[in-house]
Amino acid sequence: MRVLGIESSCDETGIAVYDTERGLLAHALHSQIAMHAEYGGVVPELASRDHIRRALPLTRKVLAEAGLTLADIEGIAYTQGPGLAGALLVGASIASGLGLALNVPTVGVHHLEGHLLSPRLADPRPEFPFIALLVSGGHTQLMRVDGVGRYHLLGETLDDAAGEAFDKTAQLLGLGYPGGPAISKLAEAGDTYRYKLPRPMLNSGDLDFSFAGLKTAVLTLVKREGRDHAADIAAAFQLAAVEVLAAKSLDALKQNGMKRLVVAGGVGANKLLRERLDAEAARRRFQVFYPPLDLCTDNGAMIAYAGALRIQAGRTGKGQFSVRPRWDLAELTAPA
Ligand code: KG4
Ligand code: ZN
Repeated sequence: MRVLGIESSCDETGIAVYDTERGLLAHALHSQIAMHAEYGGVVPELASRDHIRRALPLTRKVLAEAGLTLADIEGIAYTQGPGLAGALLVGASIASGLGLALNVPTVGVHHLEGHLLSPRLADPRPEFPFIALLVSGGHTQLMRVDGVGRYHLLGETLDDAAGEAFDKTAQLLGLGYPGGPAISKLAEAGDTYRYKLPRPMLNSGDLDFSFAGLKTAVLTLVKREGRDHAADIAAAFQLAAVEVLAAKSLDALKQNGMKRLVVAGGVGANKLLRERLDAEAARRRFQVFYPPLDLCTDNGAMIAYAGALRIQAGRTGKGQFSVRPRWDLAELTAPA
């Protein structure tokens, strides 16, 4: 079954076609980062309008790349939430319109379920069950994943998300948005051990996180040192964040007696985090899986994939649609 995926929850329009037999056939992305840059953050109304402009041209491009036409599409998946209401509505209404016109099923997908399952688009793919570290701009969670739709929250951030901490630290250091890649690049030129920043909740005994204090520590440091040692500060911050994420992931594996770790979401692209986890995996004999690098951040492929699994299981609608700007992943149930 060939499924068209449409992601429009925030500032990226992602379109993809996933074939349940042949895998990912094509995907394309349009990022609005440059458009929002002059405002210092995402402007929801501008985001919605841009999704309207980009979605259909991107769909044509993806279909052409896959050597397909709309008539070859057998199902349509869209991001139903969480995200910006207006932006979500663009993807949802396009998906439903196309679904009616083509007479194929449509399905709304949870954005985080897309991230969570995206490492299964890589080869080798993780089998269930596994522990997932979900680290994006809006979320930081550890989950136990027993199967599609069978997600148990083990711990999460009590304040800022990991990606948010990268973004805010980047802002303090005068770097652009998104902060993750900028911090990571600057840190390579820095002395990691010049400053020591706190590792919040490292020894809290549970699987929760907190990043607000780390951000405040960076603020204090920047006030004291100015931006002269920005690279050293970036390196110290990155190490502190990565150490906490890695340590809690190991705890989650241990507490659940599991040997498979999956890392998903934008911060999963971080090189130091990957190096750390790979080294621990070799030492402690567990496996760690990542999505392909271009599928770490928001994309249509993960939506097409998660949607395909749900359509195959009969979870579809036609004609009516809704969006859920706030939506807890733990509310999902298994499709079969
Ligand atoms: O998953 P994502 O694309 O969007 C959300 O659903 O939030 O994640 C975006 C987040 C941003 O906060 C960005 O700074 C962070 O992922 N990010 C990174 C890296 N690449 C993206 N953080 C650390 N290192 C990176 N290389
Ligand atoms: Zn995301």
